[in-house]
Amino acid sequence: MSDPVVLLERRDDGVAVVTLNNGKVNALSGAVVSALHEIADQLTADPPGAVVVTGGEKIFAAGADISEFGGPDEARPITDAIHGALDAIAAVPRFVIAAVSGYALGGGCELAIACDYRIASERAVFGQPEILLGTIPGGGGTQRLARLVGPSRAKELCLTGRQVKADEALRIGLADEVVPGDELHDRAFALAAECARGAVLSQALAKQVIDSGLSSTLTDGLLAERDAFVESFRTNDSQIGVQSFLEHGPGKAEFTGT
Ligand code: COA
Repeated sequence: MSDPVVLLERRDDGVAVVTLNNGKVNALSGAVVSALHEIADQLTADPPGAVVVTGGEKIFAAGADISEFGGPDEARPITDAIHGALDAIAAVPRFVIAAVSGYALGGGCELAIACDYRIASERAVFGQPEILLGTIPGGGGTQRLARLVGPSRAKELCLTGRQVKADEALRIGLADEVVPGDELHDRAFALAAECARGAVLSQALAKQVIDSGLSSTLTDGLLAERDAFVESFRTNDSQIGVQSFLEHGPGKAEFTGT
């Protein structure tokens, strides 16, 4: 039997690692997209402490599988499937970190920006090159990229297909950190493990209201935050965190994830 096209490892430290494993260029074929969706659903139904999404060393992911493209009739299920999968990744109720080495192009870039945070190796390259095929991003690129880097830069990148190296990605907010290639996974796993030891239910609440607030008015976002703030006090970790602060000072709480 051949290897799964997407691997899921649940580590003892609470970190789940999702690794694209689809041959040389990690094209996001229909099979990869469907596996990603299934894994995202599993991570939502039974959440780990935090998630790292990664790909190959030279190619994080080369985007949709171009050999599956056809006309508008083929385009609809392709865009529906990738939107479904990337929305499911974005909705995993834990901190989801993309660890990007090499090319993250098209759907690869869209996968990275559906994650909550991007750590890029110095050799990472991001881009939405669909325009060079005469088409446009169909996996959230026009929307999530514009929210990250602003509409003008998103238009420049989507309308020219220009690729962005790690240092520029950091400068424009497409990457959140850049590290030497051999430190990429250690850094991503360390950050994920730190979150996994934290008050994960309240992390989920913070993530949810930040994300929902981006597509609502400030007034509605602030109302959602008030409800989520109250909700956070229903967690055991809020009791543990407050008690620990009062007894031992900041940063010493040992959370239970409940
Ligand atoms: N879908 C399907 N096949 C792809 C692919 C994709 N997104 N990206 C690359 N491939 C195939 C190539 O056609 C080539 O096939 P071949 O070996 O049968 O000739 C093989 O993968 C290797 O690609 P190649 O371009 O020779 O490798 P490279 O290391 O020089 O460059 C990339 C790698 C990722 C930079 C380059 O392939 C690329 O730009 N890919 C397209 C990215 C893109 O447009 N994505 C958006 C899709 S909507």
